[in-house]
Amino acid sequence: MVSGHIHGNLPLFETRRAKGRALYRVFAASVFVCVVLIWVYRAIHIPGPGEDGRLGWIGLLLADLWFGLYWILTQALRWNRVYRNTFKDRLSQRHEEELPKVDIFVCTADPVIEPPVMVINTVLSVMAYDYPQEKLSVYLSDDGGSDLTFYALLEASRFAQHWIPFCKKFNVEPRSPAAYFASGGFGGNGDEEVAKVKKLYEDMENRITAAVKLGRISESICLEHKGFSQWDSFSSRNDHDTILQILIDGRDPNAKDIEGCAFPTLVYLAREKRPQHHHNFKAGAMNALIRVSSEISNGQIILNVDCDMYSNNSSSVRDALCFFMDEEKGNEIAFVQFPQKFDKVTKNDIYGSTLRVICEVEFSGLDGYGGPLYIGTGCFHRRDTLCGRKFTKGSRIEWRRESAKNTEESASELEARLKDLASCGYEDNTQWGKEMGLRYGCPVEDVITGLSIQCLGWKSVYYNPEREGFLGVAPTSLDQTLLQHKRWSEGDLQILLSRYSPAWYGLGRISPGLQMGYCTYCLWAPNSLATMFYSVVPSLYLLRGVSLFPQVSSPWFLPFAYVIIAMHFYSLVEFMWSGGTILGWWNEQRMWLYKRTSSYLFAFNDTISRLAGFSETTFIVTNKVSDPDVSQRYELEMMEFGTTFPMFTILATLAMLNLISLVWVVKKILTQVGIRFCEAMALQLLLCWVLVLVNWPLYRGLFLRKDKGKMPSSVTVKSAVLGLCVCTCSVLLY
Ligand SMILES: *[C@@H]1O[C@H](CO)[C@@H](O)[C@H](O)[C@H]1NC(C)=O
Repeated sequence: MVSGHIHGNLPLFETRRAKGRALYRVFAASVFVCVVLIWVYRAIHIPGPGEDGRLGWIGLLLADLWFGLYWILTQALRWNRVYRNTFKDRLSQRHEEELPKVDIFVCTADPVIEPPVMVINTVLSVMAYDYPQEKLSVYLSDDGGSDLTFYALLEASRFAQHWIPFCKKFNVEPRSPAAYFASGGFGGNGDEEVAKVKKLYEDMENRITAAVKLGRISESICLEHKGFSQWDSFSSRNDHDTILQILIDGRDPNAKDIEGCAFPTLVYLAREKRPQHHHNFKAGAMNALIRVSSEISNGQIILNVDCDMYSNNSSSVRDALCFFMDEEKGNEIAFVQFPQKFDKVTKNDIYGSTLRVICEVEFSGLDGYGGPLYIGTGCFHRRDTLCGRKFTKGSRIEWRRESAKNTEESASELEARLKDLASCGYEDNTQWGKEMGLRYGCPVEDVITGLSIQCLGWKSVYYNPEREGFLGVAPTSLDQTLLQHKRWSEGDLQILLSRYSPAWYGLGRISPGLQMGYCTYCLWAPNSLATMFYSVVPSLYLLRGVSLFPQVSSPWFLPFAYVIIAMHFYSLVEFMWSGGTILGWWNEQRMWLYKRTSSYLFAFNDTISRLAGFSETTFIVTNKVSDPDVSQRYELEMMEFGTTFPMFTILATLAMLNLISLVWVVKKILTQVGIRFCEAMALQLLLCWVLVLVNWPLYRGLFLRKDKGKMPSSVTVKSAVLGLCVCTCSVLLY
């Protein structure tokens, strides 16, 4: 708890330590003792040279060492959890007049997989924040350079004139029109007005959808706004001039909504692209926005959201400012990260896409050691820290008063002047991408940016409010989920190996707990090796009748049993505490296995081959639209296969291998070796059996389903043949 406050003012936020920490620490210590016992057992029982099982045993020793050490790292995420709470009423009382300007960056990259209607819903939701409108500016960066997206934004700027006053009048939540009208949570008061705005929204949506269907902007629309003329010189999305359009100019006294109230600034930007220039993905787009916005609104606070992530809580800006403006602690905070939550996730979350435990537990753990990672969306930054400012103790932030409005320069003059800031060559020989703005050279540039800010001495804050601040779109098929995790784990591993590694660059700059916390994510990819080993080798040795674990009657059985039971029981409790269901936990275990044996494995492999100089970084935008058929199966919580995605072959082969092993061994027990075999091989049998159980949806996809989402038969055949070969070889090779 924060106690005495130097300014005699009550603090704007409070920090509470998690309950039950002592209990958790005792529990963790007991697990640690058993982990050490397992290591000892592995080390002193290695079979002698020539004995069967020696290689498998040594492999398991290494895997157990890895899992144990990794488990120790994950303790940093649980040891010292803190939770935050804000006092927005105190903020309004003390600072309403001096609230800073806030610039909101929305990034989109492709009009096909990120439909313009979705993008403008995000834009509208953030334009309608409960905040002095003249202090808000919204910037859309369109790396797709699409006139369709521009058209949608133009429509949105008109609709906003009705939407914002409507939101204020009826205190609408959430402020994304699509989400609001879909929720149906209105009625009673103002029915007529709701119907009117709804009609306006639907008309607008229809116009945009029609244009998207047509695939281009019709002549008549082109004449509506001079901005379209900027596409005259456009040759392709990778080759065009800077397109900058101030759709609503907040400095203009005529920028008013229908009630005559002030209106947020709204800007469209497609930075210059040339084929021969590397554009640095989203980080490059963000940096262009930082520069352009500094000349237009120059807000001291920058919020950045992905285009699929609408605001579900109109007071998030005020929440964030409670941290930045707190008189005692605010000056050391560089960014406030909100969790990435998702809209329309099914109850048992079959792909584990809500990242429930990460959001509810782990990030609070990081917060206890100096702050969460910057995850690239739903995050409020201070502009100066994002631009590379170092932390100096005791310095105070000057919250700029509203400067006199400079309306001498017209919007179009301003646009012409600022285009250069978003040109390809602007960053040559500058610190942009290195010390300033988002850092380049890594697929998860956000994380590395957050880390380098923390390494300059700043803190960050994790704020997970009761009512979700932002809601995004979760992947709704297995291949999309696995691809996303491949990208994350690959990027995180690259960070570990880069100049900005939390392991060595972070040494002495951030707290050891935070270093460990970062490492748990950076080591996702190498985790694949130990998991792979565990899901193949014990089952194969089971087939040969070679035991790799202690017998039930041996005292060494106890630490194994304790670790297995305690860890799973704990993870179940943690998952339920985070708001999940039992079935959701079971699904999470499956995804744990799938991610480790496919995404992480591919990520590990690609990183190593890149280090060896074989391949280049590529960036894949996750698809945010799915066809109705797929969505329906998602609603029914059926796993979606349906393609010959390379990762599926690995998953299917592993599943087949374990199924064959299990069937083979059960037959052997029934016909030859009898029940005594079970006692000797209990843990290996259990492991194989659990692997088969967890893979149940995969067997259904391979053999039982008839719908389009089943596994393609080529994968079925391939995996069955491969599985059978490996099993037969392992029995025969003796
Ligand atoms: C979003 O906000 C609404 C209120 O507008 C709230 O009822 C809901 O719980 C929030 N979260 C989700 C996931 O819809």
